[in-house]
Amino acid sequence: MNTNKKILELIPSRISIRTYDPKPISQIHLNQMTVFLDELNKQAQSKIRFSILSTQMDGKETNIKLGSYGVLSGTHTYLVSVLHEKEGNALELGYLFEKAILKATDLGLGTCWLGGTFKREDFEKNTQLNDHEYIPIVSSLGYIKDKRSLIESAMRFGVGANNRKAWDTLFFLNDDKHPLSKIDAGDYEKVLEMVRVGPSASNKQPWRIVKQDKFFHFYCARNPGYGDMMKYDLQMNDIGIAKCHFELSATELGLNGSWIITDHPSLGVWEYVLSWEII
Ligand SMILES: Cc1cc2nc3c(=O)[nH]c(=O)nc-3n(C[C@H](O)[C@H](O)[C@H](O)COP(=O)(O)O)c2cc1C
Repeated sequence: MNTNKKILELIPSRISIRTYDPKPISQIHLNQMTVFLDELNKQAQSKIRFSILSTQMDGKETNIKLGSYGVLSGTHTYLVSVLHEKEGNALELGYLFEKAILKATDLGLGTCWLGGTFKREDFEKNTQLNDHEYIPIVSSLGYIKDKRSLIESAMRFGVGANNRKAWDTLFFLNDDKHPLSKIDAGDYEKVLEMVRVGPSASNKQPWRIVKQDKFFHFYCARNPGYGDMMKYDLQMNDIGIAKCHFELSATELGLNGSWIITDHPSLGVWEYVLSWEII
């Protein structure tokens, strides 16, 4: 993935933005994002596609309404994901959408993943959907306003958005009992740190990674009941974000490996998802 800034700088610099400067997004930035989304659409292996939706046309407001339950202010433009309910894959959606988020970050644009606080029916009404397709996730896109709204400050406080789980509760050696030391992580210390600081739905951080020989095995530690009311698997989406950060950081550091799915049992309540094999 081509970015101006280093991935290892972009990932920690991204935070969710909910207060925007309402000025239109420049045509250059819109074009760059559109080209990037087209590339992601070609990469997608399951039935996923991305597009941009705006309440503005040529910098002027139209009569399109895209609601966010008052959580966002000043926003008019969104990255939109469309998923096939049977043939689309939440792990892949999370992986690809996070690339779009990092691309926007690289362009100096603010984003906020939205899986809950957006009016899905507004977005679905204004997007051409085929049978069995729906919109599970969108992200706001726009220029960042200096001062946060009160609602944004309250939301960040509510989910502890500035906090992340400690390293030794996320990364393990050989099993789910022994925390991985940074020494044992070796060259992969920075890669794992990039996973740790990533965004996740309600900041639940369900990723757990076990290093074993030449593998990093990825697990999903689900929060019981979380997202049960939704048809989209938000926590598997979060593992996709972890996969994106891991792969992009490893690639930037010249650490070679590839993804495989091995025949792995769950570890207690952790659900096995996939593994990175060091080459
Ligand atoms: C899959 C996903 C869904 C999210 N849905 C929402 C949402 O509906 N509303 C919202 O305000 N933030 C949402 N967030 C943002 C998270 O709350 C945020 O990423 C987390 O608190 C960490 O904060 P940060 O992004 O500023 O680092 C979502 C994030 C992810 C990854």
